[in-house]
Amino acid sequence: MKIGFGSDHAAVELKNVLLEHMKEKGYEVVDFGAASPTDKVDYPVPGRKVAEAIRRGEIDKGVLVCGTGVGISLAANKVPGIRAGVCSEPYTAKMIVEHNNCQILAMGARVVGTELAKMICDTFFDSEFQGGRHARRVDLICQVERDYCKE
Ligand code: RB5
Repeated sequence: MKIGFGSDHAAVELKNVLLEHMKEKGYEVVDFGAASPTDKVDYPVPGRKVAEAIRRGEIDKGVLVCGTGVGISLAANKVPGIRAGVCSEPYTAKMIVEHNNCQILAMGARVVGTELAKMICDTFFDSEFQGGRHARRVDLICQVERDYCKE
């Protein structure tokens, strides 16, 4: 599996820690920036880049980090077909995959510590979509896009 990582300048350190963590676990990783804490990157930019790379099939999943995880997830969720969920504990990380079929995990570098973030990341990538009644509900989310987006 190929995972894309993105962050704004506020969350570069955590993004790099998580990228290295997943690389050590054997995943293929792609860094979408920011490059350093002094590389000022507005959070919608990496949020959009990672989401679009998933949509184009260049990567399979993504991890996005900003101060809260919210802004960067909002940007990613604007890309049709993309579902990004913000997590600050492992239970939600499991559910956003099992029930919501999210392709992107978002976290706040000012919310979660490094070790907790790694645990959340591990849970997200160890989980699988359950389908069934959840597929119907995810399709209802997709229907909102179909109703509003003419592609
Ligand atoms: C940047 O200061 C901050 O606004 C950003 O990292 C994020 O928390 C936005 O949602």
